[in-house]
Amino acid sequence: MTLELGVLVSGSGTNLGAILAAVAERRLDARVRLVVSNKADAKGLDRARAVGVPTAVVPHGAFPTRQAFDEELVRVLRAANVEWVVLAGFMRVVTPVLLDAFRDRVVNIHPALLPAFPGVDAQAQALAYGVKITGCTVHFVDAGVDTGPIILQEAVPVLDTDDRAALAARVLEREHELLVRALGLIAAGRVQIGAPDERGRRRVSIGGPPAA
Ligand code: GAR
Repeated sequence: MTLELGVLVSGSGTNLGAILAAVAERRLDARVRLVVSNKADAKGLDRARAVGVPTAVVPHGAFPTRQAFDEELVRVLRAANVEWVVLAGFMRVVTPVLLDAFRDRVVNIHPALLPAFPGVDAQAQALAYGVKITGCTVHFVDAGVDTGPIILQEAVPVLDTDDRAALAARVLEREHELLVRALGLIAAGRVQIGAPDERGRRRVSIGGPPAA
């Protein structure tokens, strides 16, 4: 199935760039229908424009509540015929307004091995804690902050010489590959979310033949 994607960005958009490259090179069966940013100066918007992908700016400050902001996101995404939403460095907490409109179809990339280091600046959190391994996680988004069902994870070593920038760059490189791989599995229909267990947690299983 071809994924009809809406990609939400707040910053440089290198994960968006990885998606666009994979689509252009036919490594990923998807179309980026729209790129949305809450920031008018997000570099990610330029990446989209450069390859003729439509963009929208929805400035969060212009809305009285998170819900009102999300209602506008839903409106622009639906108008662009988006079916799956990717949060690719989108630095806003989304609400059930967006999650209910795209039920089990909102995916996030996070720069840590969840459930370690959720929230902002996961790379700095990892350095401050002193972990020797961190990584990245692609997961479905639920109403919590970085708590939804995990699709794929990859470990990345933390070096004693790392500062935040060095660690973030090493993690980011792996993010690009992991996000494209996760979207490919979704496009291939191989990603299933199980029923909630007694604690309400749903786990993802990857079906079909193992990825090459
Ligand atoms: C990435 O490291 C992404 O995982 C992180 O922001 C960066 C965006 O980079 N997202 C979060 O921290 C979300 N909590 P990019 O704009 O170059 O893709």
